[in-house]
Amino acid sequence: MDVPVVIMPTKRKPSAPATHHTLKLFATTAAGLEDVLAEEIQEIGGSNVTAKVRGVGFYGDLNTVYRANLWLRTAHRVLVALAEFEARDREALYANVRELPWHDHLSKHGTLAVDAVASTSEMNHTRFISQVIKDAIVDKFRDQTGTRPSVDANNPDLRLNARLRDNHCTLSLDTSGTRLHRRGYRSTYGIEAPLKETLAAGILLKSGYSGDQPLVDPMCGSGTFLIEGALIARNIAPGLLGRRFGFMQHPDFDRSMWQTLIADAKATIKRDGDPFISGSDISEKALRAARAAAQGVGVDDTIRLRRASFEDQKNRDNGMVVTNPPYGERLGEIGQLADLYSTFGDVLKKNCQGMTAHILTSSKFLAGRIGLRSHKRDILWNGPLECRLLHFRLY
Ligand SMILES: C[S@@+](CC[C@H](N)C(=O)[O-])C[C@H]1O[C@@H](n2cnc3c(N)ncnc32)[C@H](O)[C@@H]1O
Repeated sequence: MDVPVVIMPTKRKPSAPATHHTLKLFATTAAGLEDVLAEEIQEIGGSNVTAKVRGVGFYGDLNTVYRANLWLRTAHRVLVALAEFEARDREALYANVRELPWHDHLSKHGTLAVDAVASTSEMNHTRFISQVIKDAIVDKFRDQTGTRPSVDANNPDLRLNARLRDNHCTLSLDTSGTRLHRRGYRSTYGIEAPLKETLAAGILLKSGYSGDQPLVDPMCGSGTFLIEGALIARNIAPGLLGRRFGFMQHPDFDRSMWQTLIADAKATIKRDGDPFISGSDISEKALRAARAAAQGVGVDDTIRLRRASFEDQKNRDNGMVVTNPPYGERLGEIGQLADLYSTFGDVLKKNCQGMTAHILTSSKFLAGRIGLRSHKRDILWNGPLECRLLHFRLY
């Protein structure tokens, strides 16, 4: 089906409410999570959903944009295309950006930031690309009003995203603002290698967790799998946890539509049932962080936490073990961790028959030390680290 190339609607007119426009949207994610993100987007009603590299393209209206920010567990950012054009050099980029109706998105006293990514293009320096785009916007304001918006990299009123590929530029509004993995429920200062919330949710979904099975993380650290699991089991939208979103600063922010979506999301939280979600760790500090985060989210009554080594893992015969054991970033650590992985493999064999296990590790060598044959493996990226998510059936 042919979908018109859509540009973010500017000022709403009574005859054409913004909610009825078809917007061209792109949700970014970590490499390897595109398939689960595409499923999530189908579920919230996105149309023409297409998995791409590190993101998913789809179409929708403003309501879809708000729902995407509120509900997507594996997206980093939700982008709305403003314009697409050829940009081989500075002049073309500057002229195309300057032409756009920036007053519809930003006031002359507002602040802005521009993120850029570029590949296989004449202009490959992302800082340069951001700078040209900022120049075009602030020059236009200054020439028309005598006043110009300023730049605020951290907390701007308007965050733009430029993606240049084969000299073709897609310039988008970043409707999320701060990346969506920052759900607002935890501080991980001083905690060993906490996973990003979006990656933890993606691993759970890729492993088939639906919220109905028991979930155990015997090396839970700050509890990211457990908390994301509890959010899934209780059907809590990650965007309900009190953070702000970029779209709230937009002049067309539809507060009443947003409040309706929030009320609907609150009404669908599952308060009954007693999902079994349990975690342990040897580090008291990590457990403190896990408890604080669970309390912050309001799922502390759903998650059981205890201080224990995985070797004391209690026998269970159904459900899922999902964990990322220490992976040893420094030279020399890998050797020490080999024993931990092989002991962990033995514990899984002995104490977890009837369960499935889903283990994230960045080390092929350590993965081999588990001593079990995986029936499936996925490649995922934890920041710059290429990792394997190994899936095991424990008989
Ligand atoms: C990579 S971290 C897990 C991070 C966690 N997924 C999170 O998001 O915060 C590995 C954890 O394994 C724990 N650990 C190491 N040896 C352990 C053992 N024998 N039993 C239980 N936990 C252990 C560490 O204390 C650390 O918290």
